[in-house]
Amino acid sequence: MSDYTDETYGEMIADVYDDWYGEVDPEMLEMLTRLAAGGRALELGIGTGRVALPLAHSGVKMYGIDSSPAMLQKLRAKPGSKQIQLHQGSFVNIPFEEKFDLIFVVFSTFYALLSQEEQIRCFQSVAEHLESKGLFVIEAFVPDLTRYQGGQSVRAVNLESQQTRLVASMLDPVNQIITSQFIVLDKCKTDVKPVKIRYVWPSELDLMARLAGLKSVYHWDDWGQSPFSSGSGKHIAIYGRA
Ligand SMILES: C[S@@+](CC[C@H](N)C(=O)[O-])C[C@H]1O[C@@H](n2cnc3c(N)ncnc32)[C@H](O)[C@@H]1O
Repeated sequence: MSDYTDETYGEMIADVYDDWYGEVDPEMLEMLTRLAAGGRALELGIGTGRVALPLAHSGVKMYGIDSSPAMLQKLRAKPGSKQIQLHQGSFVNIPFEEKFDLIFVVFSTFYALLSQEEQIRCFQSVAEHLESKGLFVIEAFVPDLTRYQGGQSVRAVNLESQQTRLVASMLDPVNQIITSQFIVLDKCKTDVKPVKIRYVWPSELDLMARLAGLKSVYHWDDWGQSPFSSGSGKHIAIYGRA
């Protein structure tokens, strides 16, 4: 997928994103609102605003960055979006002058930065934009490489009477890259939604944080604050100033 850029995922998925992923965990909204502590919050990869809009409605002063014009257009068409300051571009470098009480990146969106170099740079930019007691929250899946046989996997992710969704993936374990294609089959047409990520082990995230002068403050398995363990399928890692 050599033509894949920062914009590809959002541009190709914007038309179905809210139908596929519209539901948001109320515990996540509650926790992010609590961590923003009535101050200023920035979402990296804000997408269609399914997380940021409810936070803005509950009084958090929201900012957001996204590389995809189509995702931002969906967000701008929603009521309340004018309260959010938006920037179109990569979140590898934060363009805002302001400092934030909370910076967050959820739904494994941190992995959209496709090299270690970019991920380290993002941590550094986050550290420069946090208030002294500010927090950086990352929600992401824990890689499960047992899914891949011979470096590949094909899985059904949705089966309905009128539509089937499959995801075909290839793993590059050296560069920690997973390249996937969501394949949408319905009665009349086939569609594809590509996504490419660089996954990171929890220990590598902690190391990137250290390089940026941040330290791990909490590490949860879910938004209800269950402790992270070796059996956790995803994690919520929270960093503050060292
Ligand atoms: C999985 S969606 C998550 C959207 C939102 N955070 C949510 O939870 O609904 C990932 C978003 O990140 C954006 N994105 C991907 N790579 C990016 C980059 N390098 N810089 C900024 N945004 C990026 C995509 O356009 C997309 O809107």
